[in-house]
Amino acid sequence: DTAAVLTLDGPGGAGKGTISRLIAARLGWHLLDSGALYRLTALAAQRHGVALDDEPALARQAAGLDVVFLAEGESTRVLLEGDDVTREIRTEQVGDTASQVASLPAVRQALLQRQRDFRRSPGLVADGRDMGTVVFPDAELKVFLTASPEERARRRHLQLQEAGLDASLSSLLKEIQARDARDMQRSVAPLVPAHDAIELDTTSLNIPEVVERLTEWLAERG
Ligand code: C5P
Repeated sequence: DTAAVLTLDGPGGAGKGTISRLIAARLGWHLLDSGALYRLTALAAQRHGVALDDEPALARQAAGLDVVFLAEGESTRVLLEGDDVTREIRTEQVGDTASQVASLPAVRQALLQRQRDFRRSPGLVADGRDMGTVVFPDAELKVFLTASPEERARRRHLQLQEAGLDASLSSLLKEIQARDARDMQRSVAPLVPAHDAIELDTTSLNIPEVVERLTEWLAERG
């Protein structure tokens, strides 16, 4: 498909998820939460007792993921093998395992086509780490969102609280820094801005300001 794509890449907690959802809703575009696919692969592996160093078996879990994304107004329910795992995939523990399985080339390869299949008319907002560099290199607009680690930890903390989950701010900051390091240093699809991406530091911007800016950039390209 050649539908328009807006890619939003960057480290966890930079606001990609919220921003992507709002822009997709505003434009009536489809949404790809690629991190959810890595989180689901991690959870499926746990459920099926697959070891985290068994790359071929993890790639089979990724390729065979039985997942349904159910749009419910502004939010999306996620079903894995028929079970509602919407909350479970958001835990720090699953996020950490996701980051480990995401460093394996065979897992990334197994998820590539599934991600590209989200590209449908009238357009797609793709949220992840390598949307602009690997999955949709020909996207109309590529944005790389960042924010300071402290601000990202603070946002993650709020997000977890809203989901009824708890975690200490200092442990979140440590986990964010560890995950950043792993995502940036891995050999396949490391977390880097595409050469043609626009970088936006959201540390001191609120959500409507970021949505506004991206919508303007997209209109300029359109
Ligand atoms: O964005 P989210 O926190 O849900 O992503 C979970 C993990 O999945 C990230 O820490 C990252 O390691 C991995 N990921 C990735 N490539 C993507 C999206 C997520 O490697 N496109």
